[in-house]
Amino acid sequence: MSKKSKTETEVTMYPRYGSDYPLDPLTYDELERAVSILHENENFTASLRFVDITLKEPTKKMMAAYQRGDSFEREADVVLLDNENEITIEAVVSLSQNRVLEFADTKEVGQPLIVQDEFIEMTMVCMQNEEVIRALEKRGLDISQRGQVQIDPLSFGYFDDEFEDADNHQRRLVRGYFLARNEANDNAYAHPIEGLMVTVDLHKQEVVEVFDSGVVPVPETMRNYERQYIEKFRDRPKPIEITQPEGVNYKVEGWRVDWQRWSFRIGFNLREGLVLHDIRYNDVDKGEVREICRRASIAEMTVPYCDASPTSSRKNAFDVGEYGLGGLANSLTLGCDCLGEIKYFDFDFINAFGEIESIPHAVCMHEEDDSILWKHTDLRTERVENRRSTKLILSFIATVGNYEYGFYWVFRQDGSIELEVKALGVMQTGALKEGETAKFGTLVEDRVYAVNHQHFFCARLDMTIDGEKNQVVETESLADPIGETNPYGNAFYTKTTVFKTEQEAQRRHKYETVRTWTIQNPNNRNRMGANPGYRIQPMEVVSPFFQEGSVIHRRAGFLLNHLWVTPYNEKEYFPAGQYPNQNPGPDGLPKWTEQNRNIENEDIVVWYCFGHHHVPRLEDWPMMPTAKLGFMLKPSGFFDTSPCLDLPPAKCDPCCETEDGYVPMRRSKRMRRTIRYENLKAEEEQRRKDSKKS
Ligand code: NI
Repeated sequence: MSKKSKTETEVTMYPRYGSDYPLDPLTYDELERAVSILHENENFTASLRFVDITLKEPTKKMMAAYQRGDSFEREADVVLLDNENEITIEAVVSLSQNRVLEFADTKEVGQPLIVQDEFIEMTMVCMQNEEVIRALEKRGLDISQRGQVQIDPLSFGYFDDEFEDADNHQRRLVRGYFLARNEANDNAYAHPIEGLMVTVDLHKQEVVEVFDSGVVPVPETMRNYERQYIEKFRDRPKPIEITQPEGVNYKVEGWRVDWQRWSFRIGFNLREGLVLHDIRYNDVDKGEVREICRRASIAEMTVPYCDASPTSSRKNAFDVGEYGLGGLANSLTLGCDCLGEIKYFDFDFINAFGEIESIPHAVCMHEEDDSILWKHTDLRTERVENRRSTKLILSFIATVGNYEYGFYWVFRQDGSIELEVKALGVMQTGALKEGETAKFGTLVEDRVYAVNHQHFFCARLDMTIDGEKNQVVETESLADPIGETNPYGNAFYTKTTVFKTEQEAQRRHKYETVRTWTIQNPNNRNRMGANPGYRIQPMEVVSPFFQEGSVIHRRAGFLLNHLWVTPYNEKEYFPAGQYPNQNPGPDGLPKWTEQNRNIENEDIVVWYCFGHHHVPRLEDWPMMPTAKLGFMLKPSGFFDTSPCLDLPPAKCDPCCETEDGYVPMRRSKRMRRTIRYENLKAEEEQRRKDSKKS
């Protein structure tokens, strides 16, 4: 294949993987074909624009029946916008049969995600609007001067505004927020234009409302992070080179990856970005390849800004459902984003006009040394056993406006999987009038505050531990008061509860009982007779601060619990609903779980919500150092014993080089004598003999 892509990069540099497996992302050719099939269809009109063409993932049933080498159907899910009739159309295209299978107005509430072309268009619409021009002039700004005004498009939300719903028909809206730059590469977030907010109709491409709550003088202090603004760099640290002279430990075949005992398949789509399919572990002790998770992704994320100002209070972004993390993925670079021996995966998607956009190096896969996996020194024998840990990391980074999110799925040799999210970028700011204080944020410059906010993520985990039928148990640690069962008041025990229905499984973390949740297969037993499982291990635990009755409470209801469990349903992929954009809510998880379906010993999906509570620090300004958050899936009774005893000793000096693991300990003689008590008696006797002699 040698096609020119929009990125001006020769696509041949980045081979397009053939669709030789039903779960593979759509190829460049398939995207092209889907567009031409649609163009040739009688229903396709000139006013239609593309939002997304993505693989229609085969059903579980189809995948269960699929055998390697079988032929399979390829279908694409398509979302289109009809700008003229102001409707959303959903279509299904069969790439195998070269025809459109479905083509109809959506029945879903809300608007599809905002495509990148619309962001550009809304900026143009704002720049040409007389009222906007005048509002900026009042603030001493000239929008026609290149680079002086920055317009940030943010999703509209749903605020019961009178122009939101007319005759049950929803306008497709977006909000523009304004910032100033003193020069072309100046950090605009140091100069927020407070009080001005513009609503644009994306179908009609016209300004609907210019909201202006009055002039707040634009803060002028410059605070920059780009290299040309840094007066003196510290010395460059001496390089740490990462080389793998004997090659890498992973094996890649198309989108399938094998590493150590793990195997899985990589998927990628416009909305969620990286998706992991069919995660399995080769349990050599049991002599079987065991299923763990059928599909894992970040299915939604929400960033509520927690400020009462008329403009900031309307900012709450659903970055997956309103913007699409995949389409905003960075093209990763060696030496900056990734270090070492890297395998990259590329991603193609469709723009509004049906042209293919390519993101070369959208996903990075590499190995890292991860310090010590396990170690013990037997003080009696002075023998040391020590194993180093290697981990495999798959990552992508999405730039969503002012922020970056790095998603790192980590596979470890101890059977655990971690999702580490890195929050990066520039904080949203607001401006104050002289003498005002920043109640809902942190002052970072004279009259500039970074707004309090939270970042929430919802992982959708289609768990299949040792097969389809799983359940979730809650474990709490409890202590009896001092008495017969706890005479010294030191003891605690654990109590587990099996969730039977969806509503029982709507749970929040509890520090006091160290509450944890484990996904188990109740039909299997480990060596000790318990059910094999994987436990969700939290990192930072965050609760939302939005109040009952608030707009965001209704729209992001999935955040009201850290844990949700649902029976698998092929229509239930997105926890805030199919289209969270302009969706009044409740939709998604809170709505589905009203059915209170059975989840005990069922084909279940686990939804885990986690996040980061961001009270801005001065140190986060103007460029925040990485904040890390996430969770782990840790085997809990899944293996019969430690799964990593078979790791060979590392080649190190001196402990593992010696055949018997004996390392003379570097301690004082007295200390060694004391420790090696088996020698002590002999030594004492010798001393007595010596003293008798003298
Ligand atoms: Ni933040």
